[in-house]
Amino acid sequence: MRRGIIRGIAAVGAVALLGLGTACSNEREGSSSDKGDEAKGFAKNSLVGVALPAKTSENWVLAGDLFTSGLKEAGFKADVQYAGASTTVADQQAQISSMVTKGAKVIVIGATDAAQLSTQVAQAKEAGATVIAYDRLITNTKDVDYYIAFDNFKVGQLQGQALIDGMKAKKPKGPWKIELFSGSPDDNNSKVFFDGAMEVLKPLIDKGDIVVGSGQTEIKQTATQGWKAENAQQRMDSLLTSTYSGSKKLDGVLSPNDTLARAIITSVKGAGKTVPVVTGQDSEAESVKSIMAGIQYSTINKDTRKLVAETVNMVKAIQKGDKPQINDTKSYDNGSKVVPSYLLPPVIVTKENAAEAYANDPKLSQLTK
Ligand code: BGC
Repeated sequence: MRRGIIRGIAAVGAVALLGLGTACSNEREGSSSDKGDEAKGFAKNSLVGVALPAKTSENWVLAGDLFTSGLKEAGFKADVQYAGASTTVADQQAQISSMVTKGAKVIVIGATDAAQLSTQVAQAKEAGATVIAYDRLITNTKDVDYYIAFDNFKVGQLQGQALIDGMKAKKPKGPWKIELFSGSPDDNNSKVFFDGAMEVLKPLIDKGDIVVGSGQTEIKQTATQGWKAENAQQRMDSLLTSTYSGSKKLDGVLSPNDTLARAIITSVKGAGKTVPVVTGQDSEAESVKSIMAGIQYSTINKDTRKLVAETVNMVKAIQKGDKPQINDTKSYDNGSKVVPSYLLPPVIVTKENAAEAYANDPKLSQLTK
């Protein structure tokens, strides 16, 4: 199933972006990125920049701390920055430019807007830096060397399957009534998560076993701008008014992450209703508590400690002039190139396997006792 699926650029505007990307790449032919400049390596105590998006979920907060300590331990100087809460794109663009000016040899980027960084990564490549897209792909540019993330399509598939399993466990006979939520349209992951989930859900929707009450099945209709809890809560409020008045019941909600799952649950509770199954992602402490209490149904464990450690390993390899470890060379077409990727396996977590899933996480394992 995974074969040939291009998980890069969002379909919307893909043609336009592809056109742009081609023009860009022609201009930049023979640039430092094409010469494989990382083969040279660089001095060990050099600067490594890490540009992260706004702290829209706990994983980003954790990643910043881990990059600061992990890069220092590995002997690098670290410059770790977050985009601000409101002017995220401009902030991140300025932060990356400043890392380039300061002479960073590698720049790790968790993009706040996938398609708005081509100028900055071109600057980075011109200056001889290696660019790693972290967790979120950067689109519409040749100037991204590597991508490292959890397998986002698999995350979506696991979420879709958890929704089905959870609903079947609570109400053995369908049809089941659901609503769908997706992440921020400027994050390339949002479409990949949604496509993964829909690959699992669509056959049941087509058969009529699952009914999307509002009829809103297009990603555009389900989007949550900025991954903001208040936007998901507002959309759920209006869905409840338009579609679930009186005694009408909702069996499940596909939520792309934990922050939005809790917002959706708050909305449903506020309307005096319950929703038996809500999915999530990120293993945020509040959601793990909610899962243990039987409220939220599932989350995904994407251990940030592992992702950061593997990213630091990539940086170490590049520093030595070695090729970093890659395990996927086909899935992530960013509209200008297929970005060599290192993908880690995500794990689905429900109340049933939480203790096992978090056994080696001192903070989360406490919550499962
Ligand atoms: C990450 C998710 C996170 C979301 C919101 C996505 O790109 O992959 O783990 O929940 O951003 O911050």
